[in-house]
Formats: sequence, structure tokens, C-alpha cells
Amino acid sequence: MSECPYSQDPSPTPRKPEAGCLSLEEELSFLEEVHSGKQLESRKKACTDAVLQGASAPLNFDELSAAGAIAWRNHARCIGRLYWKSLLVRDHRDLEEPEAIYESLCDHMTLAYNSGKIRSVMTVYAPSNKDSEHAIRIWNHQLCGYAGYRQADGRITGDPKNTEFTDMAIELGWEPPKERGSFDLLPWIISGRSGCPKLFPIAAAAIAEVPIQHPEFKWFADLGIRWYAVPVISDMCFHAAGTDYTAAPFNGWYMGTEIGARNLADSYRYNLLPAIAKRMGLDKRNESSLWKDRALLELNVAVLHSFQISGVHMTDHHTASRDFMRFCQNEEAQDRKVSAQWSWMVPPMSPSTTPQYIMPMQKQTRSPDFKLQSRAY
Ligand code: ARG
Repeated sequence: MSECPYSQDPSPTPRKPEAGCLSLEEELSFLEEVHSGKQLESRKKACTDAVLQGASAPLNFDELSAAGAIAWRNHARCIGRLYWKSLLVRDHRDLEEPEAIYESLCDHMTLAYNSGKIRSVMTVYAPSNKDSEHAIRIWNHQLCGYAGYRQADGRITGDPKNTEFTDMAIELGWEPPKERGSFDLLPWIISGRSGCPKLFPIAAAAIAEVPIQHPEFKWFADLGIRWYAVPVISDMCFHAAGTDYTAAPFNGWYMGTEIGARNLADSYRYNLLPAIAKRMGLDKRNESSLWKDRALLELNVAVLHSFQISGVHMTDHHTASRDFMRFCQNEEAQDRKVSAQWSWMVPPMSPSTTPQYIMPMQKQTRSPDFKLQSRAY
């Protein structure tokens, strides 16, 4: 066991499927979308043999790519699945050292940002294959995130979602900027086979951000709000062919409400509605003046406008909803049932204006898929 205070418990890759999970046969059925006939049988056999022996499935690049795209298609919490076929999968299963992973993550950011024309990318690092080994983990929830500093008076500067991560980064030796701000980009923390976390400060210049301004309210820019361009989820497990890829960061592009109606608006996140309502001169003493709703609307107008004038691709919740309905139609035409969670498919703003508001939905157990995994810290 390492002496490192943040070292994780070894988390072995699940071997034989547990009760209630999919059978190995079901886990491998996605290969039918890649191969047929004799070749299909031999690829299924090779994967079955490996997984039953406790190894990871020996997927080739085409199979891994297909697994990535199908995991996106299967993921019950994503409204943006119309574009599942466009996922660019980077096969970095040969990487397990934090330094090498760091370099590769920098390339992921550049490829995904693509000068503002965001591309959906997933980079797959080595899965774990022996019970005694630590799983490779990226400890950040997303590759971009803002520090949350706890003040002595209990208030938080920055993103309250990230206070624990920020404390840990500082304990591991991260030096925040001299003047701590509300939008300080966090370093990356990566652990390899030893389980011991390595800290990688990232150059703010390497991460694209968008300053938020409003098309009509000139004062909006003075609030100093910004957000990063690309959401790269880095703490979920990519599960395919009976194998857990514990480090497989992936990204899409933002839908405006994720930032404007949640990250910047939630009372337990940046909580900006009161400040915006005040600048708008709204009557905050009276809930029924709908000051929250009016401030929320203008904040969301500002987010969409700012990404647009910065040349960074983002979708709005009406377009995303229409895309989702098309995805459902395409899936139906292929005789596939869509797995979906209502609370994630319905946008947090004006939900009743979208067709999925009155649509029954069900989450199904699927493979490949992206799964939550226990925190690395
Ligand atoms: N909701 C998260 C955020 O606001 C990002 C989740 C992934 N979103 C996406 N559009 N791919 O940062």
C-alpha cells in the first residue's frame, strides 16, 4: 500500500457480470454492429475468453470506436445524442503514466476545442486488469473547472461545487493565483498504477474561455462573469465489452442552460440571479414579480450571445430538444428503444415549451455506456 495520503483503494475491474447486470453475451452484442458471420463469432470468442480470465477485452480500434459511439447513444442522461456517430475516439490504451496522460489530455483539449467548432472527442486510457493494481483515474470531475475557496467567514469565492477538490489540490501543492478570483482554473490531478495523485498545473492560456456579456445590457460585462468553452467529463467510467475504462474523458459542446440556468444560477453554485435582478432594477421583495425568472432569462440570453460572438459553438435548449426528438425517431426507425431519464432530457428552463416534457421515458441497463464511479478522493 502506498504511503500517499490520497491514495485510493484498489478498485478491481468487475470480472464476471454481477447479478442484475448484463450477461457477457449482452455486453458483447454491440460487436454485431461492427462485424458479421464468422468474424463476429471469432471476435466475440476472443473477448469472452479474455474477460473470463480477468483481462480486458482485446478490442481493436474499430471496435473501440464503435463502443464509444454506442455508449453515447445509450447514455440515458444526454440530450445531445443525435450526433452519436460523430464521436472521435482516441485510442490511448497504451498510456498509464500520469505525465503521459497529461500530455495526451492537452491534445484532447485542442482537438475538442477545434478553434471554437467544438468536436466530440473521447480519449481512452488503459483499463485495469489485475486485482492488485490501482485503476487509472483523473480526479477532476471535468478537465475545466473553477476553484471554490472557502473563506474564514464561511463564504465561498468561486464555484462551490469544487471546494473539496480545491482544498485537496492546495494540500497536494497547488498554488492558487496571488489574488484568488471567482474563475480560477483548477489544476489536473491524475493517478496511475501506483494510485498516488500527481498534480499538473495548467496554463490558463491553454483553456478557451468566454467572457459573458449581454446584447443590450451594457453593464452585464462589468459583472466579470466567464465560462469555459468545452465541458470534458473526466471522472466517469466508460464501460464496454465487460471492461471498465476508469479514465476515458469525453466531451460534447454546451447547451446554454447548463451554464445559464444551472452553473451560474443555482443558489448553491454561483447564485447570480439576485445580483442580476438588482442591476435590472427588479422588485426582489415580491416573489410574484417573477424577478428570478426575468433575471434567469436575461442571463441565458447573455450566455448564448457571448458564445456566439466569441465563435464558440453552443446549442440552445429548443434546438437541442428538436435534435433529441429526431434522435428518438431515428432510433425507433432502427427498432431500438431509447433509454432516457426524464429529469435530464427536459431542460431546466421553459421545460413545458419542449416536446419531451410530456413524453414517457425509461432508463434501461445498457452496454456500452458511461457510468458513475466512486470518487477518486
Ligand atoms: N452540465 C455540465 C456543466 O455544466 C456538463 C455536462 C456535459 N455537458 C455537455 N454538453 N456535454 O459543466
